[in-house]
Amino acid sequence: MADNKERSKRLKEIKKFNSKMYKQYEKDKRKKVVESDFVTTMKNKDNILEFDNLRTYFYTDAGTVKAVDGVSFDIPMGKTIGVVGESGCGKSVTSLSLMRLLQGPQGQIAGGSIRYNQKNKNRAVDIAKISIKEMQKIRGNEIAMIFQEPMTTLNPVFTIGSQIDECIALHNPGLNKKEIKKRSIDMLKLVGIARADGIYDSYPHELSGGMRQRVVIAMALSCDPGLIIADEPTTALDVTIQAQILDLLRDLKDKINASIMLITHDLGVVAEMADYVVVMYAGRVVEQGTAQEIFHQPMHPYTIGLMKSRPILNEEVERLYSIPGNVPNPINLPGHCYFKNRCERCMEKCNGAYPELINITPTHKVSCYLYVDKSIHTKESKIGGNK
Ligand SMILES: Nc1ncnc2c1ncn2[C@@H]1O[C@H](COP(=O)(O)OP(=O)(O)OP(=O)(O)O)[C@@H](O)[C@H]1O
Ligand code: SF4
Ligand SMILES: [Mg+2]
Repeated sequence: MADNKERSKRLKEIKKFNSKMYKQYEKDKRKKVVESDFVTTMKNKDNILEFDNLRTYFYTDAGTVKAVDGVSFDIPMGKTIGVVGESGCGKSVTSLSLMRLLQGPQGQIAGGSIRYNQKNKNRAVDIAKISIKEMQKIRGNEIAMIFQEPMTTLNPVFTIGSQIDECIALHNPGLNKKEIKKRSIDMLKLVGIARADGIYDSYPHELSGGMRQRVVIAMALSCDPGLIIADEPTTALDVTIQAQILDLLRDLKDKINASIMLITHDLGVVAEMADYVVVMYAGRVVEQGTAQEIFHQPMHPYTIGLMKSRPILNEEVERLYSIPGNVPNPINLPGHCYFKNRCERCMEKCNGAYPELINITPTHKVSCYLYVDKSIHTKESKIGGNK
């Protein structure tokens, strides 16, 4: 009885707090956003994107879910970044924040910046602060997204051709109908679709899952985006088709000059495609570096655990390793290292404050007490740390 009373009191408090927060965000949303509010400067002009201490929270009845809590990393132009981590660690929320597609009023960017290098306008903008109108111009045009399930993007009532035509027409107002159709068919060919003329007139339901994902990739590319976000682009497909789509992405990566942010559980995929890797755990970056650094010299015990749990081709094991324990509840995160209750190398120091992200090399950063004396002090390390 007393328990129930306590719970309902707590729920009341949470609802009151959430309602206060919603009002605050609503008020901010109504404010007129002028260009000077979101025009910014890139830290490095060779980056297309810079996440800087991004915090994205969900205000739920159970409490505030800190889905992304102080994430910082850069995406260099023309490079592929792999974002990895177990389920629920904040990979998709990071990309949805970048596309400004969070489900409101619960989901909100609570702080930080997402600096985007808008090459066509010769300026940088902070997506976390940009107006909805400006964001609509960027989303799907300059930054394209490939979702896990292709039907999220495709409209079942229109033919494949008309959907790609629409993208191309929007971006090339000077083209006539015949030229647009030709370009759509060329796009279908580029993504490896045989019989592209026939597929042009088909409806999405007439295609297999793998074909649909190819069409979605063609649509994404038809806008000539500077950045492509692919969130688990192959998980909904069966294994052989997965391999084909990955081959396609790898092949396209060299043909187009866009950057790719590839989100996946699968370290094997990252090993084959990424130039840089970001490892996330419970809403924070615990390690990042070049693919070479992460695969040949993983440092954080979590990254090492992920590596061990990766199936290796032609190697027979009785049972695949899995990291014992669970990710902590994102509503009540502890003050110390979030991996502590699962870490085999935990020591006395780990009871202290959450470990800062430190630079091991100018590109390799790790957030773990095991390496504090290996830190190199660069200007970078001050910028990239978890706050
Ligand atoms: N709409 C929502 N409301 C409340 N919590 C949410 C919502 N969307 C995501 N979350 C929470 O945010 C955290 C991060 O979720 P996210 O979807 O980013 O994980 P992920 O790393 O993409 O996982 P997966 O590999 O399963 O796709 C999780 O704890 C999740 O429960
Ligand atoms: S800080 Fe300590 S508990 Fe956390 S990962 Fe490093 S060794 Fe393990
Ligand atoms: Mg996800």
